Amino acid sequence: MTLAVAEKRHAELAGEIQAHDYAYYVLAQPKISDREYDVLYRELADLEAAYPQLQTADSPTRRVGGQPSEGFKSIRHAVPMMSLDNTYSPEEVRAFLLRVQKLAAGKELEWTVEPKVDGLAVSLRYEKGVFVQGATRGDGTMGDDITANLRTIRALPLRLRPSKHFPIPEAMEVRGEIYLNLDGFRKLNQERLEAGEETYANPRNTAAGSIKQLDPQVTAKRPLAVALYGVGEFQGEASPTTQVALLEWFRELGLPVPEKLQLARSADEVLTAIGELDKIRHQFNYETDGAVVKLNDLPLRATLGSTSKAPRWAMAYKYTSEQAESRLKAITIQVGRTGALTPVAELEPVLLAGSTVGRATLHNEDELRRKDIRIGDYVIIEKAGEVIPAVVQVVTEKRNGTEQPFEFPRVCPECGTPVAKEKTAGGEGAVWRCANLDCPAQVRGRLEHWCARGAMDIEGGGEVLVTQLVAAGLVRDVADLYRLKAEEVSALPRMGAKSAANFLAGVEASKQRDLWRLLFGLGILHVGTGSAKALARRYESLDQIAKAGVAELTAVEDIGAVIAASVEAWFADPRNKEVIERLRKFGLNFQSSLYRPPEAVVTGGFTGKSFVLTGTLPTLSREQAAAKIEALGGKVSSSVSKKTDYVVVGDDAGSKLEKAQKLGLKILDEAEFLKLCEANA
Ligand code: IVH
Repeated sequence: MTLAVAEKRHAELAGEIQAHDYAYYVLAQPKISDREYDVLYRELADLEAAYPQLQTADSPTRRVGGQPSEGFKSIRHAVPMMSLDNTYSPEEVRAFLLRVQKLAAGKELEWTVEPKVDGLAVSLRYEKGVFVQGATRGDGTMGDDITANLRTIRALPLRLRPSKHFPIPEAMEVRGEIYLNLDGFRKLNQERLEAGEETYANPRNTAAGSIKQLDPQVTAKRPLAVALYGVGEFQGEASPTTQVALLEWFRELGLPVPEKLQLARSADEVLTAIGELDKIRHQFNYETDGAVVKLNDLPLRATLGSTSKAPRWAMAYKYTSEQAESRLKAITIQVGRTGALTPVAELEPVLLAGSTVGRATLHNEDELRRKDIRIGDYVIIEKAGEVIPAVVQVVTEKRNGTEQPFEFPRVCPECGTPVAKEKTAGGEGAVWRCANLDCPAQVRGRLEHWCARGAMDIEGGGEVLVTQLVAAGLVRDVADLYRLKAEEVSALPRMGAKSAANFLAGVEASKQRDLWRLLFGLGILHVGTGSAKALARRYESLDQIAKAGVAELTAVEDIGAVIAASVEAWFADPRNKEVIERLRKFGLNFQSSLYRPPEAVVTGGFTGKSFVLTGTLPTLSREQAAAKIEALGGKVSSSVSKKTDYVVVGDDAGSKLEKAQKLGLKILDEAEFLKLCEANA
């Protein structure tokens, strides 16, 4: 390929990917599958690897994250980033509206009401439409340069799309919030739970932790997004003159904006809009802690100006979230299957958002210290989203001096083994862990985890039965389950012959489960279903994983250094080796059906090309034809669309052929297909 050809293809691919990012992240209407997207992306990355000069500042590949930095550079905001006056009182909102009305003498005013996104303020600088720099608010004048991390956020356009309404400005600072997708936040916590890691307390702090990572690779893995609502510095010919038009323009430029912008013409309308927003804000994919009321007219805003802290033309109304007050009777410690100690608040039962709450999570020791929570304290609890209730603060006014600070135990409350403190990746607080593998809490936890639906899926293997099995001395590890006898199980309290037989049938059936389930079921620290599947795709059997070693494991897609080290350590432990040998003896399946030889993910003459196979071919089976396509980097899909490059037809081809003809696609018989394969090999 000549440089000129490469350049042309690069521009095509970059444009296509940008359009798909826009469709996916801004319009929420993806046009192609994730796999199809990946094919385009890989082609672009390969091209840039061959021609590094093509990697422009706005190339989609810049999103993966480069080298970790030593720290963040400070940058000065061309226009300071201010904060907002805020209130919980509707009367103060009216007073604010009246104040502005007086300043604007006689003018009929329009107001916008938009969600207050609970994220982190950012300023994004675009020059001639290209994203060149992004910064945190910092102290309002100077912020941290987080450009490399921001580039990893897919929802953030690296190049603005042209709009027919206004020209792309010379330079523009776009202001808004970075947030962590709520879906993504829940998924992240679910994965951490599965992997035996401590969960994150809330999306906002997690977003902050994610964007302040010195290693952009870590940021790239977090489900971050942006919502933009304002402009800082502006150098350009023309721009919108109202907030409504500004956000409309942002959307055209490819900049995501907050949802549900409302326009109001009187104080009553403003308050109604605030009420409306409160009703629907829980459906958004970010947390909102209020509504922002702004003057719609931008030139008028400029004449009103700001105080030293906040603009005169806007005010935030904060919603009160559902909270309740209760007394903290005690703090107990739960020991998880990986030995992690989690403090739990035992509360006097109280009604909160429709249900009675008696316990709330306190996350970890650092969180306890930070909030200075003491036994006997009155505390405010809150349900954040639909998540578990959490203690948000102490009502210090109600203290009478009898409250007792909590001494976090230095030994495991279950088995008495001294515990050790472990820093978590990302620095969101440290975990105390009990290292005794025989700790009854861990033994029970490991067995329950093995039986869980997402792992070996053994019905009946829940908390109750597992506790009984362990208490009766029948099982100590997961391999013991496979030598249980029917009479042993049915003799347990409240266990009939029938439920015992069902449980044992489940145990027997679990011998055939796929490798990733077994791998996940083993409960190796940091290995959730995602990483278990990643390993099972790369390795054919458990034995290969066991002998792979850190260096090799780290090279596996989606497996980082922390997971690799944990896997290696687990398989090196003689006790775990012994469990594996017993599982082998009981006939458990150690082979992976997900395994794909590395050759299957190749790039070749068919990279980026999509094929549909239809009808019966004279000599090749469907699998053989598909294998040929994939071996050359092509992709086989099941339905014909405009995006299909080739349709390979055999006998009795039906509607797919018709559709292909209608769309004018390239249609090949087997002989032509084989020729094409040869030409592209
Ligand atoms: S307008 C001059 N609109 O809330 C500042 N701010 O508590 C104009 N925020 O500093 C800000 N959503 O970081 C505005 N729709 C929205 C917002 C919003 C969230 C943040 C912003 C602001 C903070 C004040």
